[in-house]
Amino acid sequence: TDLAAFIARLPKAELHMHIEGSLEPELMFALAKRNQVAIPYDSVEAVRAAYSFSNLQDFLDIYYQGADVLRTEEDFRDLASAYFDRAAADNVAHAEIFFDPQTHTDRGIGFDIVMRGLTAGMDDAHARYGITSRLILCFLRHLDEEAAFATLRMAEPWLHRIEAVGLDSSEMGHPPEKFARVFEAAAALGLKRVAHAGEEGPPDYVRQALDVLKIDRLDHGNRSLEDPSLVARLAREQMTLTVCPLSNLKLCVVGDMADHPIDRMLAEGLRVTINSDDPAYFGGYVNDNFQAAAEARGLGREALLTLARNSFLGAFLPQEEIAAHL
Ligand code: HPA
Ligand code: ZN
Repeated sequence: TDLAAFIARLPKAELHMHIEGSLEPELMFALAKRNQVAIPYDSVEAVRAAYSFSNLQDFLDIYYQGADVLRTEEDFRDLASAYFDRAAADNVAHAEIFFDPQTHTDRGIGFDIVMRGLTAGMDDAHARYGITSRLILCFLRHLDEEAAFATLRMAEPWLHRIEAVGLDSSEMGHPPEKFARVFEAAAALGLKRVAHAGEEGPPDYVRQALDVLKIDRLDHGNRSLEDPSLVARLAREQMTLTVCPLSNLKLCVVGDMADHPIDRMLAEGLRVTINSDDPAYFGGYVNDNFQAAAEARGLGREALLTLARNSFLGAFLPQEEIAAHL
């Protein structure tokens, strides 16, 4: 259709995509074979059939298990390259990619293996497609503060290739304030800060992310809408929200795409963006997310253009590079 062609042509930045969540079942099988790792599925179809979730934790259990096939520098490079092939096809000009080092270092995979593989894939993508990218190191919030500090120390030799720190994994019971000191240390190292908040957690977690973690960008943020004064603040401060429509549907953050609040967020003056979160698990890459939201909520070209422009305005790029994309 016309709208699909418009979406496909729109240059966009992707600001919320977990590289481990871009592991397609086909690559999972190929890496399992290459590394002689047993996986609890006998076909690609069986893997896809297992991707039925009723909340965030259901998903995380399967997602961490899938990451077990990632063992070598080449694996991480292949993973990143597969994502960038899809991103290029979707007209993504810039990507800020989350990775979860603890998922790997806790299995005995070296931090340097992960970094060498991912940065090689990023450099290949720049050479091949002209796509620029940055890495965001996420701390797993279900683990403790000391584990996060240990991860930050491992990152120190790699700070030239890491733009920001983030916070992901199980939100309920793991409020942002648990990582106050880690985020303060990250800021002192010159890193920007983002956090998942208000996906399943209450508006107070969003306030903590703003006030205690001093975030530069808010990941998800859906439940902010329950608190009008918080919405007003996010709009006034022009905080970028990285919203993920298909993720919201699959993890039951919304009951139906027809109820997605993307247009309400725009109407409230929030700087919202559209992203794929974990595209291999949630049924689509960034253009699929634009399309699903546009169809369900009747977004027109003007709204889609605003969403794409917001993705560059919210990017951690120098002002002149942002301006060149607008
Ligand atoms: N929320 C929290 N943790 C995650 C997510 C998410 O949407 N995706 C991958 N890790
Ligand atoms: Zn996420």
